[in-house]
Amino acid sequence: MSGVNEIRSTFLEFFAKNGHAVVPSSPLVPRNDPTLMFTNAGMVQFKNVFTGVEKRPYQRAVTAQKCVRAGGKHNDLDNVGYTARHHTFFEMLGNFSFGDYFKDRAIELAWNLITKVYEVPEKRLLVTVYSEDDEAFGLWKKIAGLPDSRIIRIPTSDNFWAMGDTGPCGPCSEIFYDHGDHIPGGPPGSADQDGDRFIEIWNLVFMQYEQLPGERIALPKPSIDTGMGLERISAVLQGTHDNYDIDLFRALIRASAEATGVEPDGAHKASHRVIADHLRASAFLVADGVLPSNEGRGYVLRRIMRRAMRHAQLLGARDPLMWRLVPVLVREMGQAYPELQRAEALITETLKLEETRFRKTLVRGLAILDEETARLGPGETLKGDVAFTLYDTYGFPLDLTQDALKARGIGVDTEGFQAAMERQRETARAAWAGSGEAATETVWFAVREKVGATEFLGYETETAEGVVKALVKDGQEVAALEAGESGFVVLNQTPFYGESGGQVGDTGVMSAAEARARVTDTQKKLGDLFVHAVTVEHGRLKADLPVELAVDHDRRGAIRANHSATHLLHEALRQVLGDHVAQKGSLVSPDRLRFDISHPKPISAEELEKVEDIANDIILQNAPVVTRLMAVDEAIESGARALFGEKYGDEVRVVSMGIAPGSNAAPYSVELCGGTHVARTGDIGLVTLLGDSAVAAGVRRIEAMTGRSARKHTNILAGTAKAAAAELRAPLDELVPRISGLMDERRRLERDLAEAKKRLAMGGGGGGADGIQTVGSTKLLAKTVHGIELRDLKSLADEGKKQIGSGVVAIVGVAEDGKAGLVVGVTADLTGQFNAVDLVKKGAEALGGKGGGGRPDMAQAGGPDGAKSDAALKAIGEALAAG
Ligand code: ALA
Repeated sequence: MSGVNEIRSTFLEFFAKNGHAVVPSSPLVPRNDPTLMFTNAGMVQFKNVFTGVEKRPYQRAVTAQKCVRAGGKHNDLDNVGYTARHHTFFEMLGNFSFGDYFKDRAIELAWNLITKVYEVPEKRLLVTVYSEDDEAFGLWKKIAGLPDSRIIRIPTSDNFWAMGDTGPCGPCSEIFYDHGDHIPGGPPGSADQDGDRFIEIWNLVFMQYEQLPGERIALPKPSIDTGMGLERISAVLQGTHDNYDIDLFRALIRASAEATGVEPDGAHKASHRVIADHLRASAFLVADGVLPSNEGRGYVLRRIMRRAMRHAQLLGARDPLMWRLVPVLVREMGQAYPELQRAEALITETLKLEETRFRKTLVRGLAILDEETARLGPGETLKGDVAFTLYDTYGFPLDLTQDALKARGIGVDTEGFQAAMERQRETARAAWAGSGEAATETVWFAVREKVGATEFLGYETETAEGVVKALVKDGQEVAALEAGESGFVVLNQTPFYGESGGQVGDTGVMSAAEARARVTDTQKKLGDLFVHAVTVEHGRLKADLPVELAVDHDRRGAIRANHSATHLLHEALRQVLGDHVAQKGSLVSPDRLRFDISHPKPISAEELEKVEDIANDIILQNAPVVTRLMAVDEAIESGARALFGEKYGDEVRVVSMGIAPGSNAAPYSVELCGGTHVARTGDIGLVTLLGDSAVAAGVRRIEAMTGRSARKHTNILAGTAKAAAAELRAPLDELVPRISGLMDERRRLERDLAEAKKRLAMGGGGGGADGIQTVGSTKLLAKTVHGIELRDLKSLADEGKKQIGSGVVAIVGVAEDGKAGLVVGVTADLTGQFNAVDLVKKGAEALGGKGGGGRPDMAQAGGPDGAKSDAALKAIGEALAAG
């Protein structure tokens, strides 16, 4: 009897020997198919090879493919735990021919492997064919020598396989194993075919068509797709009809039994099975980048996890259980799927977190459920609004509630549940309508309600496919956007980052066979609706169109570097300036980053240099940047920096980067952040601070550049310095002293020049007292000067006072633009008699100005009309005469 790992490798080796390329399993989140929730068959990764869109270097392939059937067309979730063969996660062994061999070779290979290699007794086997497929019927007779009675024609869709509503499809032929008449059940096609006796073990699909919306076309070449559930064939080869009795499941169930102390095959058998199955699905989904959430794939994962957690509760587990089983799973499957080993820590933490959080409401929710169903009997249903309260307040996915009542034969009023959900939406809608948002924004509320949240794939990939779900132009939903038009597109999933957390939205290209649009921006509406601003270049974008999405890679790369640098600068600023530093806002764009912090005074050049040095040292560490999902309170407790006043969900991404110098591998920066980041700090390249400025009281703004922009910036600075040195004919290292010398010299020359001008203005080199007259008994020095700075007028007046010894000085300075300044000085002995302020006002009026001010011994004023300087001086003379 072989173990599961050996059965898997025997399959791969058999087909490798027969000219098939061994291709690794593709991820559970399909990369090439936006219509599928999860990879649900081996052929998914080859979909485009079958249709001829994609070419591979081989025409035959073999895989062991991880699959999840929970949600979507193939959904087994509800049955898991209660049957011998349903799983949410399973492995599909398959061989594929892409236009190479067809039915005859496929049947021959399958028959040889089953009967000769796996040595399944022929008398235990029977097959089905699609009722019209005489060719397959004849081939089974010829190749396997099966009698007509064991080749059953099936007229229904059971023998026509399709991956989903669209995609490659074709008639199929299935191999069944008879577990013996001690097990109830009839052969395929009979009334009791659903029993456990006759089990389908291998499905050979003769791929001939592609189902498009509304029509079915022929594939370029007939091809082969086969699928054999590893768990089923293992059960056959290990002599059991129950998949949960194979070695792999026994190991997981044993671990669950040991951890809970509950007998594996007793009354709680189903719970152990649910836990074993759901552990596999959860672990593999997390390893492939899915994290629990309230939408899309993340919600399916959450439903699977929570369903398992209720069963752990049924087994009496008082502490989180699932995470403790991860090592056993990794031991059993980690060799075949190294991603499990790589993600072990993430899987463990994610399970623990989800279970810890859910436990807080699980017990209370179950008590409500007990109370509400105490008087219900088999065939009755739980009220829909109770199921909704359990969902909305206690985090019970609907299928968890259904599962909990299943054993007692009690159903759930799902219509009532939907109605309660709709009522809640109505309330939200009313609140929205009253919130005063711009009318154009309300369209997003309708779109969000219709199409649901957008799944963001951009942490993992920059290219993906998505399906157009809604188009908006001028605030209205439209059916299509034509060439030349601009508008907004919402998809079911996207790698484009929607602007948030300071990081700008992605740009790039959205294309389909006959359409192409530029994505000029991506915004997030209502928290989780990603809205792509597009301009259609050719063709038309319309609803339901699958499109290829490609984010502008270089731009995103620069944004990543800038965002990661922001985290490093944040920490370095705290280190240098002190713990009071808190982030007040940021802008992360491709060419630069801007970062506002609370700090009461300008940041000195030395401080900036220190910050820059520290950040660049961490960059040089080239340490990995690690992102984890945590409960928000736990993250903050563990020291992650959160932004004050920011609204976070229950769970947050926590980004750690660098190694704190002198620590034993403790991360340098840990922040809550939903942005996109570099893989290693070295990817930032270089960070250069451009400087610090003030934005508001107590808030400083730092600007910086990284990578190529930083290098360009420093190159420009170096180039400028070199050019300046060349201009001065000085070596570069003497540039600064030379400039200081030149500046000193210039200041001295300016001073000298001003002195010379003053002297010139007051009548040349000393003596010469022209402009002095006597009014009454008072000496008046009245003068108009040109070409000297108005701010020098006062010193001229002082000079004048000295010249006359006792009297009044009035000087009008006329500037180049024709405006005038006026200064009046009164020597100290006369201030009792004349007030400079009064006199200056008289003069200012003549100059067309108003007012003037100063002290009794010196006052000044100005006016627009310098040409009236004589009138101004005359007015002052008259005032003296009068006074
Ligand atoms: N794609 C086929 C199946 O999933 C083989 O059954």
